[in-house]
Amino acid sequence: MLGRAGIVLVVAALLATACGDATVDESPDAVPATTVSVTTTEPPSTTDGTPVETEPATSEPEAEPDAQPEPDEQPEPDEQPEPDAQPEPDEQSRPPDPEGVGDSFYPKLGNPGYDIIHYDIDLDVEPSTNSILAETTITAQATHHLDAFNLDLSGLEVLSVSVDGVDANSSRSGSELTVEPASPVAMGSRFEVRVAYSGSPEAIEDPGVPFFEVGWQQRDDVIYTVSEPSGSMTWFPSNNHPTDKATFEIEIAVPLGFTAASNGILTSETTTDGKTTYTWRMDDPMATYLAAVYIGDFDRIDHGPLHDGGPVLRDYVPSGSAPEVEQALSVTPEVIEFLEGLLGPYPFDSYGTIVMPFSLGYALENQTLSIHGPATIGPGIIAHEVAHQWLGNSVTPDDWGEIWLNEGFATYLHLMFEAEHYDMDFNNTMSGVHAQLSATGAVPPMGTEVQDLFGFSVYFRGAATLHALRLHAGDETFFEILRSHYDRSAGATTNTGEFLALVDEFAGPEAVDLVESWLFDETVPSTL
Ligand code: TRP
Ligand code: ZN
Repeated sequence: MLGRAGIVLVVAALLATACGDATVDESPDAVPATTVSVTTTEPPSTTDGTPVETEPATSEPEAEPDAQPEPDEQPEPDEQPEPDAQPEPDEQSRPPDPEGVGDSFYPKLGNPGYDIIHYDIDLDVEPSTNSILAETTITAQATHHLDAFNLDLSGLEVLSVSVDGVDANSSRSGSELTVEPASPVAMGSRFEVRVAYSGSPEAIEDPGVPFFEVGWQQRDDVIYTVSEPSGSMTWFPSNNHPTDKATFEIEIAVPLGFTAASNGILTSETTTDGKTTYTWRMDDPMATYLAAVYIGDFDRIDHGPLHDGGPVLRDYVPSGSAPEVEQALSVTPEVIEFLEGLLGPYPFDSYGTIVMPFSLGYALENQTLSIHGPATIGPGIIAHEVAHQWLGNSVTPDDWGEIWLNEGFATYLHLMFEAEHYDMDFNNTMSGVHAQLSATGAVPPMGTEVQDLFGFSVYFRGAATLHALRLHAGDETFFEILRSHYDRSAGATTNTGEFLALVDEFAGPEAVDLVESWLFDETVPSTL
């Protein structure tokens, strides 16, 4: 049973037992955010008999949120100045604030002045010491004239940096790596940055995920990454912000006997000199926070394509897992087909789950390869992470303050799937959610404090926002809005302003007012 304080944030419930100290290893998985559904009569199945929390939250309302800016006043961090509006090169050879792209929660994430097209990440990993010898080659396009630019990299030792094959000077300050090419990069030109680095990657604290660390971690002979929002910079230098999506090739060399998994398609697996190199390719744009690496003793389970032209399904489970693990994952095709019916074809060429051999207390929707603990492989949470492939991964918020577009939508869709799967009345589900939101005085999902980024309101008041819109606009219009929201930004980024514009277009200004009251009003609207 969760204590009162533990429910203030759903993330507390999500992560209460997930921290890395010795005592938690014995704990059952914490409640994943995605199971705090008050009306789920059948809790998601667990494979280890762990009871799943279904108690309604009873916490006091959060402290007063800050005044919310109107959506059309939101910062638009990815807006580059028009090329012809730019000052002469010598006036703007360093873009303003080289350390960040103006994210409302993470001022130092991302870097202006260029746009990354492709990452080629080569990792030579020694699991016995949890260390890497690595080289990341970035293909980018300059959006400014650059006599210097930054990358985000946390920890590790930089061995060398080159730009277009010529050695470059570099310096480090915190998680900013500043590169000074031997000769400036002209605005508009394509360039290649190569960074060689080594060391033991270290997970970092992230203010949005207050209860555990993000990034590269090692536990019980498994190396794993959980990176949302900031953790990717613990293992590769990047433009670490969702506004700069890119394609990836991730090559992982491990000692013979280890399996290495990552995003997309495994294009080759070769063994020489006692090392196996796994090459993974993600050909669709991906935000850095969705890049992932897993190394350990896993079995790969191939299921082939979901249907003609559909994604290839493959899962990874700890070697020697009980058959119940595979059994629990077998709901995945039903989930994808359910969501394809609502949103259109699955966005990527593959999907699957990697299950850790230990409890995590959460799941994360890495592009095409979600990570779950053994207690989060119930239909609801599986559906939640699959829903993120459309909403979050293909259509990505352009600021971390827009996170309800990920979590509210994924929660709404996973609750819909659960209702369908367990044959429950969905309106009843949502009335229960509304009652719980009212009882707890859930804060508005837009403009939360950074520590509430993955809190209860973002997930469930976000989901209720969509249900309120659906009840107002009717199913047909609502699902048109949902599909258009996905279609119009597939493979790219979006924000609440764009969503409200769609609501206006399909359902009119009253619907916009309604959605705004759900997103911004301090109090929970009294009716759905
Ligand atoms: N996006 C995750 C979800 O599906 C929650 C989450 C956010 C998370 N940051 C994380 C999980 C870091 C693990 C690690 O709801
Ligand atoms: Zn989620």
